[in-house]
Amino acid sequence: MTATIDNVAVIGAGTMGAAIAAHCANAGLPVLLLDVVPGELTADEQRRGLTLDDPAVKNRVVRDGFERIGKIQPPSFMSARARELVRLGNLDDDLEAAGQAGWIVEAVVEKLEVKRRLMARLDAVRRPGAIVTTNTSGLPISRIAEGLSDGFRRHFFGTHFFNPPRYMKLLEIIRGAESDPAAVATIAELASRRLGKGVVYARDTPNFIGNRILSIHGSFVMDYALEHGYRFEEVDALTGPLIGRPKSATFRLQDLVGIDVAWFVAQNLHGLIPDDPHRDVLASPRLEKLIGGLIERGRLGNKSGHGFYRKTKGESGGTVFAVLDPETFDYEPQREPGFESLAAAGKVRDLGERIAALFDERFDEDRGARFARAVVSHFLGYAAAVAPEVAFDLPSVDRAIRWGFSYELGPFELWDRLGVAATAERMEAAGVAVAPWVRAMLEAGHASFYRREDGRTTGYWDWTAESYQDLHRDPRHIAVEDLRLDGKELRGNAGASLLDLGDGVLLLELHSKMNALDDRVAAMMNEARELLDDDAWRGLVIGNDGPDFSVGSNLVAVAEAARQGDFDGIRAASRALQEALQALRYAPKPVVSAVHGMALGGGCEVAIGTRRLLAAAESYLGLVEVGVGLLPAGGGLKELVRRVISPAMALADADPLPAARKALETAAMAVVSTSAAEAAELGFLGPEDRVVMNRDQLLWEARQEVLKMAEEGRTPAAEKLYAGGRDLYAALRIAVWQLEQAGYASAHDALIARRVAYVLAGGDASAPRWVDEDVFLRLEREAFAELVATEKTQERIAYMLKTGKPLRN
Ligand code: NAI
Repeated sequence: MTATIDNVAVIGAGTMGAAIAAHCANAGLPVLLLDVVPGELTADEQRRGLTLDDPAVKNRVVRDGFERIGKIQPPSFMSARARELVRLGNLDDDLEAAGQAGWIVEAVVEKLEVKRRLMARLDAVRRPGAIVTTNTSGLPISRIAEGLSDGFRRHFFGTHFFNPPRYMKLLEIIRGAESDPAAVATIAELASRRLGKGVVYARDTPNFIGNRILSIHGSFVMDYALEHGYRFEEVDALTGPLIGRPKSATFRLQDLVGIDVAWFVAQNLHGLIPDDPHRDVLASPRLEKLIGGLIERGRLGNKSGHGFYRKTKGESGGTVFAVLDPETFDYEPQREPGFESLAAAGKVRDLGERIAALFDERFDEDRGARFARAVVSHFLGYAAAVAPEVAFDLPSVDRAIRWGFSYELGPFELWDRLGVAATAERMEAAGVAVAPWVRAMLEAGHASFYRREDGRTTGYWDWTAESYQDLHRDPRHIAVEDLRLDGKELRGNAGASLLDLGDGVLLLELHSKMNALDDRVAAMMNEARELLDDDAWRGLVIGNDGPDFSVGSNLVAVAEAARQGDFDGIRAASRALQEALQALRYAPKPVVSAVHGMALGGGCEVAIGTRRLLAAAESYLGLVEVGVGLLPAGGGLKELVRRVISPAMALADADPLPAARKALETAAMAVVSTSAAEAAELGFLGPEDRVVMNRDQLLWEARQEVLKMAEEGRTPAAEKLYAGGRDLYAALRIAVWQLEQAGYASAHDALIARRVAYVLAGGDASAPRWVDEDVFLRLEREAFAELVATEKTQERIAYMLKTGKPLRN
């Protein structure tokens, strides 16, 4: 049984505490954020005659931390509303209030004694049942609550967030020997469902799983580079996306994290793992000389403006990064790494095959391939060596590396792709030891870490039992790939497919290039609509498992038709999308869109055009058609009228202008939300739509939503929408003129914005009225056909197709 947590206290408003507080608030949880009371007045406080007892002074540290988190990029808060959920306080006055929270997260400085003293104070004020966790990076969990009450120890364990907590999926949970499993399960459930985290259980060992493996591995990569004379930009070219790692690669990552911080972590870890034979690399004299030299010179990475790289102005005026010369500590222009292997492997799409190509004997003499091989071998070798000490099972290691560091594959997933036995041979030939448990697995005749059956991964090798165990899966994670393997695809074309999502719910999966909309997608929408008449189906979800929901309409067809002057064809195509969406909207069974990532242009119109929208927390919605000289003509403007303007006019004598102006700006300025919560503030999500924090659970949640709606049995009735007419159109034209005068809109932008205004006003009828949706849909189509015929719009489309970027002409 898991308890429900409905409020949180976070103690420590530094880098992590303030960001954890922000993310809990993103999940809708009220948060009390505390920090220490300052011991001295600032000069400003003295001037203002304040004393240390003044509430403003007592909350200064926490306020500073809270304000800092409001400014850093990428943003920690998902919306303005989330900010309001955080209340500030201090450890002198508000500790008792913190003790009343359901979950108390400690994120104060990494000092055992400080944490222990704080826990003792919390033990005295904690209400029975309240759960206390520590966000330590590496202190032993067992020591932090030593000597405290039984109740406290039962409700205490570690929750190690990764920075920044809004964006990094990993949460390592470290149970104490006495932690109550129900308390742990409560937080794991909250972390997964409400905070959207991927939970991995770690053993209570120094730096837990992710940081232990990657601190040692990162130091190895840097040390190997220094030993063998690789340039920093060469290393970053070889250890980034080429081998399935983020662009920050090795040295750029150091600059990002802070060279001093990373060095402190490494030195600290070195002292904590005397028995780890791999630890020496953490204190390598080569590294010490280089990093010590950087720290001495105050070159700490991005936060000090220079580290391994320094931003400078290039010849053409743009920003370029000069790279450090480790001998002279000067910066010099980067050189293009000239490795034959890199160029060859770069062309291979599949990560496993790409890395395998680097192991090809063709490249035996290639310095680039040699480096990549050494890096990959160390990664696999060290992960396997340390895994049983730090993790309970091998999937936890893979997940920690993927979710905490954005690697495409964890070490065991990668090793499986490369072939375990063959790679082990090569590693040993190169002097990298292969862990005894891996040898034992191979000797027992098992060739892979994961067991695959019928194309799907069903088990993993258990190093203790020396057999495969079933892989635990999140029952709320529905993967489209699995549906396919189960033969659940009903029909499909090159743009979209229809699948059986289970429980009588259909899935319309978009899967064209970047999930762009085209007539094939519209055709599949129509087939979905027809299937909904069948008693076998209770409703439909529109969604997919790609990186984005949909980036918009396929412009190639539009450009081609415009070139041929086929404006009737263009009108017909936009009508077809409108009709397909309207048919789904008014289908007798519920249709829910499950949005994540980008939902732009036509993608946004599909999202907001269905009866209900479920958006993953990281959803970026926007009607961006103006960027290509067009306006939304798949019902997007009609939806803005329905979602933003009409509700504002429900009260008699209301003024339509504020809402209409907001809608105009959203469409005419191509505003894209930076989160689902912000999309709600823009009006893209209505009162019945909702945000799903865990992206992996989106399709499951959407299916539940369909079932709930089907149960309620409401059939959608056609609505009347507010058409402001002539006066509203005139007022919006003034708004457009102001945008143009202020330099926010070019003449062509202004022309488009006036067409948007015309549609949003429902035309220029002499008096306001409530009209059918069709009125707006027709206006959208007409304005679209008119714009597509203009030269400037055609230039914009051509430019977008060529460069992928909008043209402002
Ligand atoms: P920080 O230095 O930014 O913030 C620490 C906070 O603790 C400050 O606001 C400070 O005022 C407060 N504090 C200092 N002395 C205190 C005391 N005696 N009692 C109560 N509060 C006190 O540190 P950061 O980076 O936020 O780290 C906090 C914890 O999170 C540490 O245990 C750290 O190891 C861990 N951590 C840090 C990560 C990171 O990337 N920075 C990642 C994961 C965990």
